[in-house]
Amino acid sequence: MEKDSVHVFAPATVANLVCGYDILGLALDEPGDEVIMERIDKPGVYLKAVTGDDGRLPLDPAKNTVSACVQMVLAHLGREDIGVEITLHKHMPIGSGLGSSAASTVAGLFAINQLLGQPLTTRQLLPFAMKGEELACGHGHADNVAPSLYGGITLIKSYDPLEVVQLNVPEELHCAVVFPHVDVPTRAARQMLRSKVDLKDAVVQWGNIAGLVSGLFLNDYGLIGRSMKDVLIEPTRAILIPEFYEMREVALKCGALGFGISGSGPSVFAFTRSRDIAQEVTKCIHAHLDEKGIGSNTYVSKVNTEGPKML
Ligand code: HSE
Repeated sequence: MEKDSVHVFAPATVANLVCGYDILGLALDEPGDEVIMERIDKPGVYLKAVTGDDGRLPLDPAKNTVSACVQMVLAHLGREDIGVEITLHKHMPIGSGLGSSAASTVAGLFAINQLLGQPLTTRQLLPFAMKGEELACGHGHADNVAPSLYGGITLIKSYDPLEVVQLNVPEELHCAVVFPHVDVPTRAARQMLRSKVDLKDAVVQWGNIAGLVSGLFLNDYGLIGRSMKDVLIEPTRAILIPEFYEMREVALKCGALGFGISGSGPSVFAFTRSRDIAQEVTKCIHAHLDEKGIGSNTYVSKVNTEGPKML
């Protein structure tokens, strides 16, 4: 059934899960972005307001990823006769490595699909969300938008053809996430990476990806932790994140299973086996950064298996 207005939430995400650059990601319970979409008489997609972005996001509907993707869906469905007005409430920092643009785009796509009575499946919405990533950072990777859209832990088994696999979420798995207050734009964090890798490094990486996926399905927390190693991307990107290796030491000392960069950073995350340990990890890293004069936001969350939802 079509609706006149909807209010939706879409979750933040941790992409890569350390070893799976561009292919692994998970959704968090918090933070996340909200979109309110209202039908109006004038055809077209309009941005009524954006809050929580410190004025950093474009208000031009053709340039803002939320409105641009909604426009693409309307064109695809041949529904350019309708008009919608969008209010975007951002509840997470931009350029944080928590899939900020992905959460906003997914919220917008989920909202228009709900408003129109769900003409598209989740799988059909995914390519539109990837277009949003392309608009936001120049590359249409799916490891933030897929978990935000599907919920849970997702594997992009292949990009061409696009194939997404939902992985098992072990019951006790928790995420400790810390966003140190430094800016790392995804576009720049991608451009600095080497485009060629050594075969011996690739062998290590393949082992870790397979180990992590196996650990998730086997509910083997030790294997999950031992597989959270990245020899391809992390050594380059860690340079952009102050106190990265010290934060790892703190996290592991507190009992984290493994630790690494969330997406392209600067956020970092750890998997833990309980909420208490996750809270301890974020508390200790926050205190460590504070001592170094670096502010931070912290989040403790289970893996969000629901994905976007109506509020
Ligand atoms: N896989 C992406 C990257 C996630 O690491 O650049 C960030 O958007």
